[in-house]
Amino acid sequence: MSAKDVIELKKQYFFPNAMHFYKNPPLLVSGEGMTLIDDTGKAYLDFFAGVTVANCGHCNAEISKQVQEQVGKLQHTSIIYLTKPMGLLAKKLGDLLPGDINRSFFCCSGTEANEGALLLARMHTQKKGFLAFKGGLHGRSHLTMSVTGIPMWRIDPYLEEDVYFAEGFFNDGGADRQAVSDLALKSVEDILKEHGTDIAACIVEPMQGNGGMHYPAPDFFTRLKRLLESYGVLLIVDEIQTGFGRTGKLFGIEHYGVVPDIMTMAKALGNGQPIGVFSAREHVASSLNKPSASTLGGNPVSMVAGLAVLDYIKDHDLVAHSADMGAYLLDYLSEIGSTNDNVQDVRGLGHMIGMELGRPELVDEVLEKMKDLGFIIGKNGINRNVLAFQPPLIVEKEHIDKMIEALKQVLKV
Ligand SMILES: Cc1ncc(COP(=O)(O)O)c(C=O)c1O
Repeated sequence: MSAKDVIELKKQYFFPNAMHFYKNPPLLVSGEGMTLIDDTGKAYLDFFAGVTVANCGHCNAEISKQVQEQVGKLQHTSIIYLTKPMGLLAKKLGDLLPGDINRSFFCCSGTEANEGALLLARMHTQKKGFLAFKGGLHGRSHLTMSVTGIPMWRIDPYLEEDVYFAEGFFNDGGADRQAVSDLALKSVEDILKEHGTDIAACIVEPMQGNGGMHYPAPDFFTRLKRLLESYGVLLIVDEIQTGFGRTGKLFGIEHYGVVPDIMTMAKALGNGQPIGVFSAREHVASSLNKPSASTLGGNPVSMVAGLAVLDYIKDHDLVAHSADMGAYLLDYLSEIGSTNDNVQDVRGLGHMIGMELGRPELVDEVLEKMKDLGFIIGKNGINRNVLAFQPPLIVEKEHIDKMIEALKQVLKV
């Protein structure tokens, strides 16, 4: 079966919205570390990590061994029975999360984690509305799509009406980060003045990934938290993309020194194993006091994967490595940006880096050519004009050097 055959199957049996990257997509059959292999045996260095999931590298041997052992021992029980791994992972998260965030609910995806966090906020505050930011992405369910601030991902024609969008902290084209953050906070304040008594929580990513790699000024979250507190509005920080070392800290919010009321995580916690979790501070968590269960959430295989991932990150010092290698990559990309008229801006933290290009078509062209040369990179941005560099955190200088050579060739620097 070839890539063409799978595309045919997608055309016949998937919904028409089923998309994939590339005009000529490879049919991927295996992965190891930084590398993905297609059905013709061609190897690709992966600089997108399956949308920032494979932080510890594809099919990481240390993690896979533990996952495989668990699959052979006990794969499923449902959360209504006791297993050791779910207790251990909840404790480990409690130890690692900021402040007194130490109670967790396990589910299977980022969408589900955010849905649960929004529910908890409503139960705790007994208020209905939400505040979100333009450019944010939080999921595909009704509520999470309603708080998503990117038009192309808001496909439900009947989204929730009690959602108020603050200005995004967009610094496209290298706009002043402090100035855009100040404007975003001003719009938060305006919304709170008018609707604060109806708003349960504000949901926000420390760095907007899908929105185009935008992160706010250093004082943003302290000021945001203060504003929210004065209206009894909870702060939900969505770490689904930024979590587990991606930005050069274990969690993106650590760049800001603020303890959110609720945090949501998924993606890299499983390194490919489906997982999602929302965690909350003690006094907020106590409001989730009516029965709620997830059939597959907390399953022993995903819990073992989560534990193995956290051990691997610690044992291999991946957070510091992410910061070092990210700085190395950012320097190179900035250098390319300074000499290429097509590049409007290069920005990022750790290994979450975006290169903004003038035109979305150019991004697609670059992606296709890079893939042909053996490099997988991503794209995002509200206008889909940002190249996304989010490799597994195990990336080394030699991988970056090779990718940069290819990128220079494609961008003709
Ligand atoms: C910041 C953020 N939140 C939520 C989600 C949704 O997660 P999932 O696709 O696991 O449902 C994503 C997915 O890309 C994301 O980047």
